[in-house]
Amino acid sequence: MSQVFIAASDASLARQLSQLLAESEHVVELAPEGVDAVAWLQNGAPDVVFVQVDADDEAGLEFVAKARRALPGSCVVAITPAGSLELIAEAVKRGAAHCVSRPVDARAVQFVLSQASARVRVATTAPVAAAPERTTGRGDFDRIVASHPLMHQLLEKAYLAAQSRATVLIQGETGTGKELIAAGIHQNSKRCLGPFIRLNCASLSETLLESELFGHERGAFTGAVSRRKGRFEQAHLGTLFLDEVSEIPLSVQVKLLRFLQEREFERVGGDEPLQVDVRVVAATNRDLKGMVDAHTFREDLYYRLNVVRLEVPPLRARPSDVPLLALHFLHRYARENDKQFDGLTSEASMALAAHAWPGNVRELQNIIEQAVVLSNSSQVGVDEFPLARELRETEPVRLMIPGATLAEVERFAISRTLDAVGGSPSKAAAILGISRRTIQYRMREWGLGSREKQDDEDIDSDVEVEPN
Ligand SMILES: Nc1ncnc2c1ncn2[C@@H]1O[C@H](COP(=O)(O)OP(=O)(O)O)[C@@H](O)[C@H]1O
Ligand SMILES: [Mg+2]
Repeated sequence: MSQVFIAASDASLARQLSQLLAESEHVVELAPEGVDAVAWLQNGAPDVVFVQVDADDEAGLEFVAKARRALPGSCVVAITPAGSLELIAEAVKRGAAHCVSRPVDARAVQFVLSQASARVRVATTAPVAAAPERTTGRGDFDRIVASHPLMHQLLEKAYLAAQSRATVLIQGETGTGKELIAAGIHQNSKRCLGPFIRLNCASLSETLLESELFGHERGAFTGAVSRRKGRFEQAHLGTLFLDEVSEIPLSVQVKLLRFLQEREFERVGGDEPLQVDVRVVAATNRDLKGMVDAHTFREDLYYRLNVVRLEVPPLRARPSDVPLLALHFLHRYARENDKQFDGLTSEASMALAAHAWPGNVRELQNIIEQAVVLSNSSQVGVDEFPLARELRETEPVRLMIPGATLAEVERFAISRTLDAVGGSPSKAAAILGISRRTIQYRMREWGLGSREKQDDEDIDSDVEVEPN
C-alpha cells in the first residue's frame, strides 16, 4: 500500500484514477481547492505523485519539476495525452520517472505502483539525468527504457526473479536488451554489491571456453603457463551472465550442469572440487527447446537453466517503445556529441514507426547515433537516417495481437494509411472510414505535420472547428 497524490485539473481523470487506486487499497489524496499543492505534498511525502500534463498547459509540467525537487524520494508520474512524444520527453526532462498515457490503463497504473512501492524506479522514458551505473541495495531498472505493457510485465517478473537465487534464462532476439536485463537482475538482487561477470559463450573454442568458465591449473594444456581463476570463481558472491548459452559445446554443458546441480566444479587440469556462491543468468537468441529436440543441447541442462524464463519481446511487438527509445538515444548521443536537438521531425518519427526493426533496439540505437552525428539542424530528420530508404521500404511492422494496445493499432493504421496516400488526411479518412477531423485530431496529438493545405483545395466541405 502506498501513499498516492493526484494532481489533475480534469475532474473525471482524477476520479477515474482514484477509483483505480482505491480498488487496490492505496491511500489517495487530492490537493484541496485553493491550497499550494507543492506545500501540501511536502507535508504528506507521498510515495507516488500523479500529475496531469497537457500540451497547452505549462502548469502540469511545472508541477512535475516542483514535485521532483520537493520530494526527491517520491516517484513522479506524468499522465500525458496518448502518443504525445514531445510532451513525454519534456515531462521526463522535468523529472517524471514514468509516463502513463490517457486514457489511463489499469495495468499501467498498477505497474507504476508496484515499482514505486518496491522503491524501484523503472524509467518508462529517457532517464535524462544520468542514471547511476551501479546502485546499492535499492532496486533499479533505470537504464531500461520501456513503456509497453509487455515490457512492464517482463520487468516486473525480472524484479521478482532478482529477489531469489533462481537461475534465469532470458530468451529474445539479438539486440532486444537481454544483457541490460541480466545486469538489472543483478542490481536488483541481494548480490548487487558482488561482481557481475559476463561471458559470451559463442566467441571461444571448446578448450578456451572451458578454461574461461572454470579456470585452469598450470600446465593443464599448451599455453596454460600458470594457474588461472575462471569466471565462476571471479563471480563468487555475485552473478555470472552466460550470453549465447546455446553455443556451449556438449562437453562443457556437462560441467555447467554439474555446477548448477551441485554448486561444484574443478578447474581444467585440476582434481580439487571448488565451491562458489554464484547465481547464473543465461541468455540466448535461439530456440533452446528446439535444440533439445534436435539433441544439440542437453535436456537436463535446459531444465536447470530454465527455472525462471524471461522472454524479451522483439521491438516490433512493442511499437510504443520505439519513440521513447528514439528520444532516449537522441538525448544520450546529443550529450555525448555536444549537440542540441529539439526532437525528431514528423517524417522521421513516421519512418521509425513504420520500420520492422529486425535488429531491434540495437539497430534503433545505431540509427539514432548516426543521425545525431550527421545532423546539423535542431531536429533530426529522415534524411539523416543512414538507412532512410531501407527504413521506409522494409516489410511493414507486424503488430502483435494480443500484445498491442488499441491505441497502437489505431496509430499504426492511421500512419500507414497516411503514408500510402502521401499524407493527405482526407484520402486516408476515406479509406479508413472515419472522419478527416478524427485523423487531423490524432495527427496533432501525435505531433505529426499535416499536409492539409493542398488538401483543403480539393475537399473543403467538412471544415470543422476542432475542440481542444
Ligand atoms: N529497453 C532498453 N532501454 C535502453 N537501452 C536499451 C534497451 N534495450 C536495449 N538497449 C540497448 O540496446 C543495445 C542492445 O542491447 P543488449 O542488451 O546488448 O541486447 P541483446 O543482449 O539482447 O543482444 C545495448 O546498447 C543496450 O544498452
Ligand atoms: Mg547481447
